[in-house]
Amino acid sequence: MRTPMIAGNWKMNTTVEEAVALVKDMQKELEDISNVEKLVCPPFISLKAVSELLAKSSIKVGAQNMHYEDKGAFTGEVSPLMIKDICHYVIIGHSERRQYFNDDFYINNKVKAANKYGINPILCIGEKLEENQSGLTMDVIERQLEQALAGVEHIGNLVIAYEPIWAIGTGKSASAEQANDTIGAIRQKLGSLYNNKIASTLRILYGGSANAENIAELAGQSEIDGALVGGASLKPEQYISMVKQTSAVYNKK
Ligand code: PGA
Repeated sequence: MRTPMIAGNWKMNTTVEEAVALVKDMQKELEDISNVEKLVCPPFISLKAVSELLAKSSIKVGAQNMHYEDKGAFTGEVSPLMIKDICHYVIIGHSERRQYFNDDFYINNKVKAANKYGINPILCIGEKLEENQSGLTMDVIERQLEQALAGVEHIGNLVIAYEPIWAIGTGKSASAEQANDTIGAIRQKLGSLYNNKIASTLRILYGGSANAENIAELAGQSEIDGALVGGASLKPEQYISMVKQTSAVYNKK
């Protein structure tokens, strides 16, 4: 069985002090839950402090983005070399990065760079509202997968996050069945790009207004392997509840 993941994407929130305090609140409650992978993705500035705090913890640390070059004249950017020793994961191609920072162009290189440095990529894909309403969801998703994974030979450590853009930060989550169907189709596409065996082992998360109210239903679906959580991951009681509910669902699976 695939181990579910509840990943918190903190986006551009929390100072270093706030990040450390938030992690401490979560740690007390979550340290002993072992059937769910717990991941926090604070802003770059807090990665070092949070990773030191979690050095011996079962909670893992991820970055929200990175450049694909090792070093160079890229003002304001952070390289894989700088984060590889403090991050287990890196989120790549989040829709906010695609929308505001032109990330569509760099995603393939970023996936390759993450593989090169042994940082597990969490690749975000998802359709816009108009695309969803025009029945283009799978066209968009297949194109995003093909672009992101072009020339990528090894996907054993890849995590996919299916995040319909219309559900992010809107309070309007996709229904669990809808998300499950799309995630099943994503798995099939990965099977055709690689092979069904590897596709059946990869974790595919749902993201977009996931919270303590809907996580049990989402986690109960056959294809959904947890969630990438924005807003709710900043509220310790919500995040803790999401991990605990997912754990309970998987204990019964
Ligand atoms: P949300 O964000 O949970 O606040 O909708 C999800 C995400 O952007 O990953």
